[in-house]
Amino acid sequence: MTDITAHTPYGTLPAAAPLPPRRPISLPRLHEMRERGEKIAMLTAYDATFAAVADAAGVDCLLVGDSLGMVCQGRPSTVGVSLQDMCYHTESVVRGLRRVQGTVWVIGDLPFGSYQESREQAVRSAAALMQAGAHMVKLEGGGWTVETVRFLVERGIPVCGHLGLTPQTVHALGGYRVQGRNDAQAQQLRRDALALQDAGATMLVLEMVPAALAAEITAQLPRCHTIGIGSGNGTAGQVLVMHDMLGIHLGKTPKFVRNFMEGAASVRDAMAAYVAAVKAGTFPDNAMHAW
Ligand code: KIV
Repeated sequence: MTDITAHTPYGTLPAAAPLPPRRPISLPRLHEMRERGEKIAMLTAYDATFAAVADAAGVDCLLVGDSLGMVCQGRPSTVGVSLQDMCYHTESVVRGLRRVQGTVWVIGDLPFGSYQESREQAVRSAAALMQAGAHMVKLEGGGWTVETVRFLVERGIPVCGHLGLTPQTVHALGGYRVQGRNDAQAQQLRRDALALQDAGATMLVLEMVPAALAAEITAQLPRCHTIGIGSGNGTAGQVLVMHDMLGIHLGKTPKFVRNFMEGAASVRDAMAAYVAAVKAGTFPDNAMHAW
């Protein structure tokens, strides 16, 4: 009998040529990378085909971000994204990865309203994302979230924090702007980052934080790997929203983004160029992409 999945006409699955072999990315491998000074390259992904191409391009981690509210659903912010939406996109990404080599570490974003009510609600929501195929969940903010992070980690759920510009609270922050510019804000960021590491978070997105502060926080967190976006090149890794780095938008490119499609022959080449630039430390360039 013919295996119809081997002849799927739409998308890019399965790979036409053998992919370079790669050991699956796991938490111990991420720790090893950090120890030998290898930067972690992360992108967002929302569907099967782009996830598979990112895996083939050598991306280490894929974040199924609630930025899908903007780039996939056309919303003005991430606030309207539901847990059901996140599970749907996580399942799609993971199916795509399984059909290629499936070596990427997958992070599922807990959307607004899915973890704020109680630690028990956070466990239920995190379990739904893990059952959809995520290896780790991400939640935004410091302060009260620290005890939620501890509760999740104690129950075997790897957690990524998110400090600086936290898009789910954009209305409280008053807009998409750089965070941690004054002493009080910077002190609060340092305290929150240390508390998240103590609670067991093993990864921490730092979004739109001044480069010097992000580098200083990174040095203070040996067990929690900082992933910068708009936070300079001193973090343990980088993340960009996939559509931004492929130049798929009609607006102005944000200051912290480079369009890797420029000069690339394919999306896979653009993603591979991103991975190479992150690993070499040539992206981001603090003089151009940071504050
Ligand atoms: O939702 C998302 O894509 C994110 C990244 C911008 C870090 O949180």
